[in-house]
Order: sequence, then C-alpha cells, then structure tokens
Amino acid sequence: MSRQMRAVVLRHPGGPDVLRVERVPEPLPGLGECLIDVTLTGVNFDDLVQRAGAHPELPLPAVPGVEAVGRRRVDGRRVVALLRQGGGYAEVVAARDAYTVEVPAGIDDAQALGLFEQGGTAYGALLLAGRLRAGESVAVSAAAGGVGHLAVQLAVALGASPVIGLASTPAKRQFVKGLGADVALDPADPELADRLREAAGGMGVDLFVDSVGGPVARAGLAGLAPFGRLVCLGWRPAAADGPGTAGGDLPAVADVDDVTGVVALTTAQLARGSIGCAGFWMRHVVDHRELLSGIAERLFALAAHGRLTVHVDRTVALSEVGAAHAAVAARATTGKVLIDVRREM
Ligand SMILES: NC(=O)c1ccc[n+]([C@@H]2O[C@H](COP(=O)([O-])OP(=O)(O)OC[C@H]3O[C@@H](n4cnc5c(N)ncnc54)[C@H](OP(=O)(O)O)[C@@H]3O)[C@@H](O)[C@H]2O)c1
Repeated sequence: MSRQMRAVVLRHPGGPDVLRVERVPEPLPGLGECLIDVTLTGVNFDDLVQRAGAHPELPLPAVPGVEAVGRRRVDGRRVVALLRQGGGYAEVVAARDAYTVEVPAGIDDAQALGLFEQGGTAYGALLLAGRLRAGESVAVSAAAGGVGHLAVQLAVALGASPVIGLASTPAKRQFVKGLGADVALDPADPELADRLREAAGGMGVDLFVDSVGGPVARAGLAGLAPFGRLVCLGWRPAAADGPGTAGGDLPAVADVDDVTGVVALTTAQLARGSIGCAGFWMRHVVDHRELLSGIAERLFALAAHGRLTVHVDRTVALSEVGAAHAAVAARATTGKVLIDVRREM
C-alpha cells in the first residue's frame, strides 16, 4: 500500500477557500526524479493564477506549488527544487534531478527556497534578458514582492546605479529603500514616466524590469533612456481585490487600438527611441542544467556574503494557504510567503 501524506489539493478553480488539505498518496518518483521530504514550500503569484483557473491546460485535481526545499529521501542531503509540474504544497514531492540543487551549509531552508525560484527569476531578468552592466540605472516594479525585493538587492549588488523600486504604499516604499534602492516610487503616480526619468538623472532608465504590465509597463517604456531595455516578467490585472482577479486579461505593453485590437507598439517606436523590449521566463533556464546550477551557486554565494537576503513576510501551515493567497492578492505582503508543511493547525 502506498504511503499517505498531507497536501493542499485544488479540485476546481475558485477563490482561496477552494484550497483544502487532504490525505493523498505520496508521489512515486519517475525516471530521473527523486523524492524530497519537504520542510518549506512557497507561494508564487502564478499559483494564484492557477487557482483562479487561468491555466486551463493544467489538469485538475492538482497539488499546486512550484518549489520545495527539504531532504532528499535517498541520501538525506538538503536540496531545493523547482517543480515545473507543480506538487509543491505537500509533505513529499517528486522532483526532477535536473531541477534540483544541493543547498550549501550556511544557507537555511527559507533562504534557499526564496533564492532558487524568485532569486533565479530576478537574476535572469537583470542579467540574461536585461544584460545589465555596472553603473546602469535599473527600475523594478512590484519591488517589495517576492521576485522584486530580490531584484532590487541583486541590482545593487551588481553595481547598478541608481536603483529605483516601485511599490504601492509608503510602508512598502520604505521597505524597498531599506533593501538598498536609491529611490522608491508609487506605481500609481500619473506622472510615473517623468518620475522615472528624473530619478535616473534626466536621461531615462537603462533597464526596467516589469512584472505588472498595463500602465506601469507603458510608463516604464516611456521612461527608458536611449539604448534602454524593458524586460517583461509577467503581468497582473488592474484590480487586486479578490480571488478571481489574479487571472484577468493580459494588459498590453502599449496602447491597443480599440477597434482592431492591434498593439500600437511598433518597431519604428523601438528604433526611434533606441530602446528594446525583451521577455524572460524561468522555464528557459531550468532546461539548461549548467546555467541553472551556476545561477544558484552565484545567488547562494551572494547570500552567504550578506549581499542578498530573502525577507520572509510570513510562514503559514498548509491549512492556511488559502489565507496566504488572499493576502498576496490583496497586495498585503512584502517579500516571501513560506509554507511550513510540517506545521499542524
Ligand atoms: N517569468 C518568470 O519566469 C517568472 C517567475 C516567477 C515569477 N514571475 C512573475 O513575477 C511577478 C512577481 O511574482 P511574485 O511571486 O514575486 O509575486 P509578488 O510580486 O510578491 O506579488 C505581489 C505583489 O504584486 C504587486 N501587484 C501589482 N499589481 C497587482 C495586482 N493587480 N494584484 C496583486 N498584486 C499586484 C503588489 O505590489 P504593490 O502593491 O507594491 O504594487 C503585490 O504586493 C509575477 O507577475 C509572476 O508571474 C515570473
């Protein structure tokens, strides 16, 4: 008989209350996979999108969660894993060996978890897609969020200057300044493009890392310096006040013609502004084993030297995952939201 474990199961799309803890069979590792006895997993924004039903290609029922840290059952080594196929909100996960790295002594589980997926995304946006060079100016949207707070610290550590963070409340902007950002701006400022240019010394921003889209991305594009780059990491709906909002329409980067629906960002605009647009998806890193482990090694080293810290907003039990989703959707979190799968509530 297969061993049982506790896991959060998503049986049908909906609000945070559809996330329920159940006893289910432990996963069986396939070829090239290992079992991990999980200590911590985490909430990522895309988990909200999956829960709301905006990933129709993902079959349900499913155990959400794309990351986990814990002990590899076969040898007891401490490892952190990316779970492209989900399954993270559970006491045990089956992870691909290729998407798993060992955690060095001196890096605790919470740091390892935050650094691997969200830190890796920040790294990819700044360096792989954004081609950041020391001395360039960088702006980051949702800068107090899981990816954003690591992107700000990484930009500082890489010698970017000035580093500008966007966050929606004074408390979050203070948090962003505390991470080392030179300037913190309100993404809802109607003059955001001007504020970005001013903050970057008048010429505009060299690299804008955006995970919000819509008006924020538009202002980011308008605020770019010649040879500036906008890197798109993701997008959000305009409203943030409920469970269904996470999977809303995808806002266009630039204006859309109401009649034709055509996005009015043209190559001519890119040429006339000497600007560029790029995208980044972590999925394209995970399939390059050497790149993935090299990035993890560099991030762990920066963390070991105190240059990069995962700030934990809260740690919840599996039974509290719905409430944690609601907090992220309500924009009420700063930094990383962790799930301690062994905590009983
Ligand atoms: N491309 C990739 O490989 C990759 C990998 C991981 C994540 N991502 C993307 O990176 C982004 C950040 O992910 P994360 O997990 O770190 O999440 P997160 O940034 O912690 O998400 C929460 C924050 O997003 C901001 N936000 C802006 N508009 C929002 C809205 N309409 N609803 C809710 N929040 C809104 C809020 O900050 P303010 O209140 O300060 O605006 C909020 O605190 C997401 O778009 C995600 O899809 C991409």
